[in-house]
Amino acid sequence: MTSLQKRPARRGAVLRREAVAATIPVAVAALLAAAGPASAGTGAAGPTAPAGSAGSAGAGDPYFPLAGNGGYHVSHYGLTLAYDPKTGHLDGTAVLTARATQRLTRFDLDLRGLKVTGVTVDHRKAAHRRDGQELVVTPRTALRKGHEFRVTVTYNGTPGPVTDPDGSLDGWIPTDDGAFVAGEPQGAMTWFPANNHPQDKSSYDFTITVPAGHTAVANGVLRGQRTAHGRTTYRWRQSEPMAAYLATATVGKFKVEQYTTRDGVKVYNAVDPREAAKAAPVLKELPSVLEWESRLFGPYPYRAAGAVVDHAPQVGYALETQTRPLYDSAPALSTLVHESAHQWFGDSVSLTRWKDIWLNEGFATYAEWLYDEQHGGPSAQNAFDTLYARPADDRLWAYPAGDPGSGAAIFGTPVYARGAMVLHELRKAVGDRTFLRILRTWASEHRYGHGTTAQFTALAERQSGKDLKSLFHTWLLTKGKPDKA
Ligand code: TRP
Ligand code: ZN
Repeated sequence: MTSLQKRPARRGAVLRREAVAATIPVAVAALLAAAGPASAGTGAAGPTAPAGSAGSAGAGDPYFPLAGNGGYHVSHYGLTLAYDPKTGHLDGTAVLTARATQRLTRFDLDLRGLKVTGVTVDHRKAAHRRDGQELVVTPRTALRKGHEFRVTVTYNGTPGPVTDPDGSLDGWIPTDDGAFVAGEPQGAMTWFPANNHPQDKSSYDFTITVPAGHTAVANGVLRGQRTAHGRTTYRWRQSEPMAAYLATATVGKFKVEQYTTRDGVKVYNAVDPREAAKAAPVLKELPSVLEWESRLFGPYPYRAAGAVVDHAPQVGYALETQTRPLYDSAPALSTLVHESAHQWFGDSVSLTRWKDIWLNEGFATYAEWLYDEQHGGPSAQNAFDTLYARPADDRLWAYPAGDPGSGAAIFGTPVYARGAMVLHELRKAVGDRTFLRILRTWASEHRYGHGTTAQFTALAERQSGKDLKSLFHTWLLTKGKPDKA
């Protein structure tokens, strides 16, 4: 189905959108912004890239120079965790299956805080040291290029969140009954040793033990749950590739609901009882939202779905945790639509660098506009016009969606709202049918992989047969309020 025609309003359309997604004051952000551009690419010489056959300390992303690491890819994480919400203590064992992309005499993992009690590489004890957020591992003998190896890290301590360049918290965020675990953009390293950049995608197995009465929710399918001696162990499997920031191990006292959709997707919803009454009518819409998005964007990428609705007022945002978005409170329907759209745009098709964040947030915001348009709300044109009416000195125009400038600005209004405006301009230029074909082709050609802005604009030109350079230049890359075309 390719139509973007208006559909009649439905029962339940009274649920109103929140303000345009989560935004953080940009001024604070600028003050905290990471200094200086980084020059290091994977394996390249630079401040984060040791010479020779050592893996580099970053994946080469100028916005987060130390995020990720060079020299290897992780295909699988096996995480065994035990968390005690009373003391805040975490015990962890991470088993990483990885492949060397170069000869490696040593390599880094990202891990912040916590105490490392042992590291082995291919079952042999390896030397390790901490250097800021880097865990530097030196195996007994060098790993040859192409070698598949296994790293085991045992660790423990009291995890806490990391403060983002924009002042918000991510990572392991303790709550009054557990922890809200949301890793975008940096937080994965607060609870497991990772190659912490979306360039590296992996499958995951989680085994999480919590006191009985608590629930531990991770990504993918629940494979088992066992209670013994007052503790419950949950086993989760995320089999499709996932970026580390989309992993979760959220713990709380939740009401759980499980069912399978008509399309065979296994749904697992965990809801804090304090949010349950407000969350219920929204969560009820999840299967129809996923069906609607599947009609627009192509098949839902995962075998599992669901939600974690926590009570975590200190967080202030929701996250598109793969298969199972995290909400810090009962979400608005528009937020559910937004996080669900990320399953295609952001989760299945991942960023290659954080600068391209509009490929996540602009797309998910535009999904909200389309949803409204087709469910008796204002049209996307209407949403566009309302934003366009903002004066030239409004922060909406402070920087272009396609070039936020630093990690401090990646969740700002321009990325979300102007990112969606870019797509609306594209839709007007190429027509509804071609526009939807572009979105669907984007989702299918890059399914489980990565995309860049340049690849998207090239696809749009290819699919439409139009020269769209000035459109993207004006709407995506130029600072300030564009003159209306
Ligand atoms: N990506 C989230 C969304 O879809 C928002 C988000 C994640 C966020 N981490 C953040 C916003 C940190 C601000 C700060 O809306
Ligand atoms: Zn988003």
